[in-house]
Amino acid sequence: MEVVGVYSVLIDLGARSYSIAIGSDLLGSAGIYLGLPSASTALIVSNNKVAPLYVAKLRSGLHGRFDVIHEVLLPDGEEHKNWKVLQSIFDTLLSNGCDRKTVLFALGGGVIGDMTGFAAASYMRGVPVVQVPTTLLAQVDSSVGGKTAINHPLGKNMIGAFYQPRLVVCDLATLDSLPLRELSAGLAEVIKYGPIADTNFMDWLESSMEALLARERSALAHAVRRSCEIKAWVVSQDEKETGLRAILNFGHTFGHAIEAGMGYGVWLHGEGVAAGMVMAAELSCRLGLVDAAFVERLTALIARAGLPTKGPVLDVTDNAGRYLELMRIDKKSEGGEIRFVLIDGPGKAVVRAAPDALVREVIDACCV
Ligand code: NAD
Ligand code: GLY
Repeated sequence: MEVVGVYSVLIDLGARSYSIAIGSDLLGSAGIYLGLPSASTALIVSNNKVAPLYVAKLRSGLHGRFDVIHEVLLPDGEEHKNWKVLQSIFDTLLSNGCDRKTVLFALGGGVIGDMTGFAAASYMRGVPVVQVPTTLLAQVDSSVGGKTAINHPLGKNMIGAFYQPRLVVCDLATLDSLPLRELSAGLAEVIKYGPIADTNFMDWLESSMEALLARERSALAHAVRRSCEIKAWVVSQDEKETGLRAILNFGHTFGHAIEAGMGYGVWLHGEGVAAGMVMAAELSCRLGLVDAAFVERLTALIARAGLPTKGPVLDVTDNAGRYLELMRIDKKSEGGEIRFVLIDGPGKAVVRAAPDALVREVIDACCV
């Protein structure tokens, strides 16, 4: 197996700064956890798929740091990212007498990370949390930056908090067991960083897609590191998304509508984002912000990652109307006006509204 070094990316947020450790076989390495606050109890939150693969490694890395390490396993899947399952984390904490120093470890993908982060933000008004992301999507995006949430039947990630972790541990070895469909979904969030911030990264992705799909460690290390660097740069300037941070939602306005419209868990988050990026790029093109060649280039890259480039039909009688209805619930909406992340020339994003009629045209052109 290829050997890669350990990289550290800093999220610079003053007193709430933390680092992202990126490398192979980090979970069981005690040194990674040295800077964490001392506490007598910890709680590992995971699920039945991930825990059998990695909880023992994580426990070995934490050996001797805590008197007792509790565990709670949540049901697996986006459809379980809700109040009822969140409550089971609080039940475990309270029934075990966990105090306000208890450290939570989120071991899993973005669903586990978002729910554990929200639990940590709320339990006793805030306890430390460490993100240990085991999907590519979680390593390049959801574990970093402190967005935590659960879904509401009327909208995705609608209930949540900004709450930064103390540490993020991206162990590339965990990606070996990830199903290919999930790897591709993670690549959607990797790809998004190119059009919004770094065309050189887009060039690199074009030349490295085969290596990424083959899970070559050095390629994965670069993809995770560069993605985290770009996210760190954005989050450090706009932690609470008052402006710039919204660009990280490129493809998400259409993507969230797809996820909610199909029913959570039917399309993966990354798949919705992939088709959503094509739609947002097409809208950018029709607004004269970027040329058709760029839309084609981005679409080809998304297809090579094994991702959908067309959105699903959500309503056979008025598909565009259904997309618009769902998109109005988006958190970027202001006064019922949908705001889109658009590409304003390669490597630069802008957030703005667009005429409904034009959005309808784009949806009609981009759905099958
Ligand atoms: P996920 O958490 O559902 O994980 C995908 C699947 O892979 C699950 O079945 C999981 O159990 C399994 N899995 C996880 N790690 C594995 C491994 N190493 N080997 C084998 N199987 C493994 O999905 P995801 O794509 O990681 O995350 C999607 C979620 O992240 C969505 O809820 C989305 O809203 C959220 N998200 C949040 C942010 C944020 O900033 N907080 C950003 C992007 C996405
Ligand atoms: N995933 C978008 C953000 O963290 O802002």
